[in-house]
Parts: sequence; C-alpha cells; structure tokens
Amino acid sequence: MFKYLLPLIFCLVLPASALELPNVLGSSPAKSKEDWIKIQRPKTLELFTKHIYGRAPLGKPDNLSFELIKEDPRAMNGAATLKIIKISYSGPGGESGFKLITFIPNKSSKPAPGYLLICNRGPENIDPTRKKKDDFWPAETIVARGYVAATFLNADLSTDKDLNFDNGAHKSFDNYDGRRPGDAWATIAAWAWGASRALDYFETDPAIDASNFAVIGHSRGGKAALWAGANDERFTLTISNNSGCTGAALARRKHGERVASINKAFPHWFCENYKNFNDEENDLPIDQHQLIALMAPRAVYIASASKDDWADPRGEFLAAAHAGPVYRLFGLKGLETMTMPKPDKPIHSGRVGYHLRTGKHDLNQYDWEQYLNFGDKHLRK
Ligand code: GCU
Repeated sequence: MFKYLLPLIFCLVLPASALELPNVLGSSPAKSKEDWIKIQRPKTLELFTKHIYGRAPLGKPDNLSFELIKEDPRAMNGAATLKIIKISYSGPGGESGFKLITFIPNKSSKPAPGYLLICNRGPENIDPTRKKKDDFWPAETIVARGYVAATFLNADLSTDKDLNFDNGAHKSFDNYDGRRPGDAWATIAAWAWGASRALDYFETDPAIDASNFAVIGHSRGGKAALWAGANDERFTLTISNNSGCTGAALARRKHGERVASINKAFPHWFCENYKNFNDEENDLPIDQHQLIALMAPRAVYIASASKDDWADPRGEFLAAAHAGPVYRLFGLKGLETMTMPKPDKPIHSGRVGYHLRTGKHDLNQYDWEQYLNFGDKHLRK
C-alpha cells in the first residue's frame, strides 16, 4: 500500500521542485569566481543577448557629446543643483539624443552617489521644475538622503511602439549593415543602452560619484534596468521594481504573463529570436535567475507587489533566491532564503535584496525608501 502512496505524497509535497531551472553557475558549472568571471559569465550573457534582448551595435559612441542646457544651483529651495544635459550621438542613420535630468544634493559631501531612473512614464512624472511631484520619482526624498536623483525618458532612446525601429538610437545605428533578423537589439536594449550613456556623463561630472551608482526601472523599465546592470558592470546596484515577465520573473513558472503574450503584445521589446520560445519556455537555454546572477558580485534588488499577479511575484522572488550560488562563489551572501517573506518585510542582509510590497503594480514612496536603505549599505563605500 505504502509503495503506491509514496509517489502521491511526493507529488503533493514537492510541487515547487517540479520547477527545473538551468544551473545558475552555467552549463559547465563554475567552481570558482575566476571560472565564473572568465568563462561562465560571458557565456551566460551571450545566451541572453542572442535569444532574448538582442545585440547592441555598439557601446559608447566615439562622438558621444554632453551639453549642459540648464543649470540651477538653487533648485529644490536650495537643496540641490539641477543640471539638464543633452546627450547626443550620431551614426550612419544620423544624429539622435536624449535629455538627462539630474539633481545633485548641495549639502552632502561631493562627489555624491546616486540613482538613475529609466522613466517609462510620461514627462509629467519627472518634472524638473518640481511644480508637479510624483511618488514615481520622489526626487526631493532622494536628494535629502544625500543621493543624486537622475532620470531620462525611455522613449527618447526608442519609442515604445512597433514602429520598425525608425527613431532614436535605432535610427542612428541600425543601418550600419542593416538590422540582423535574429538577434538585432530592440527597444528594451536601447533603453538599457541609454542608461549606460547617462553613466558616461556621470563619469565626467566631478560632483557625481559615478562609481557608486544605481540603475532602477519599473515594470518595462525594470526589464531595461536589469539588462543595463547585466551588461554594464559600472553600475554598483541594479533595481528591478515589478519587472515581471522577461524581467525578474522566472519564465519556466509560466505564471502571469508568458513569453508568447509579451511577444504578441510588445513585438518590439525583444529580439526576433525570442519568438522561437513562444509557448516553449522550457526550451530556453537560460532563465531569469541567471540574469540576476549576472550582477554578482555587485548588489541587486528585486521588488514585487502583492496584487501584481501578472508580474508573478513568486517567480520574481524565486529568481532572486536562485541567483545565490553565484554570490557564494565570491564569498558573499545572496538572498539566503527560499521562503518568500510576508508583505512589507524587506530582506536586506546580503547583496541580493527583496521585498513584496502590499498593493498594486506601481513604484511608490515605500519602494523608494527600501531602495535608499539598501543603497546606504551598498552605495556608500
Ligand atoms: C504590461 C506588460 C508588462 C509590463 C507592463 C508595464 O502589463 O504586459 O510586461 O511590465 O505592461 O510596463 O507596465
């Protein structure tokens, strides 16, 4: 009798283990941090490039230029210096650029570390005049905590529409040799590329500590922030707020938004190769815990919201938890638990942070407070 009951008990008790994930340490699992850095990390990054996010045609353009178009040393009633910088670049398809809004705290010691938000909402959410203030980007709070508050509009790098990549960074660079059909970069990768160009600017500003900077994004912006942090190791902290499918959430959970739905609704976000995995998540050679592991040994923070089932909070938590072995190769702590915390009980003890906020899909003051607390540990060396 027991013989027959045993498999049934296993099925009931172990549903979570049904989730078989690719080894986070790589296909020939890394045994040391050197092995990870030299062999398995580049291999993992290449798999994400080839199958999901696509290949950017270039890194920092030789002709990248910065023009200070507005400066106000008494912004926020004297608490900050506002600088608006026009970042320009050109390629075979002509010139493009974007505006970077930067509030540098006047009181804190210089150079100041900071947070760069990839803004996926409208300009009214990041108003540099501060007539309109929004919890999505609480610049006053960020400055009061001694950090630079910086942001740019994602759409300036690539419009968030299926427009044949005829604008922004795509317009400038895609006709180097035509867009490659399979792994050419798409919109999310262009937003991530923009974050790196903003960091190029920070490196030139003596008031800003570019070596202690976080990149953060919400939802589709969170997907871009993770891709920016994975590619650009100059970012000290990468923050994914409710990034969900093809952000922090594990594809193999097949919960909430799935690969086929995201590719159908947003065909311009990822490279064409990604469409090969519509309804075939198990065939992906990687999963999103490996994207998070690409941040190691740097800090990374994943956040979910309790009413955001579409983004699969549990899949986001598990991805963060399963990045742990790569941190351990460096002798560091990751999340160090496989038990999802209760709402509003952040985990901040290792290099991988996590919280589940009560409420809906959003980026708000509560989330920012957690990111600033985590930043106090990892951005102030
Ligand atoms: C949609 C999309 C998500 C995305 C979200 C957002 O819901 O399906 O993948 O994260 O929009 O950016 O707000």
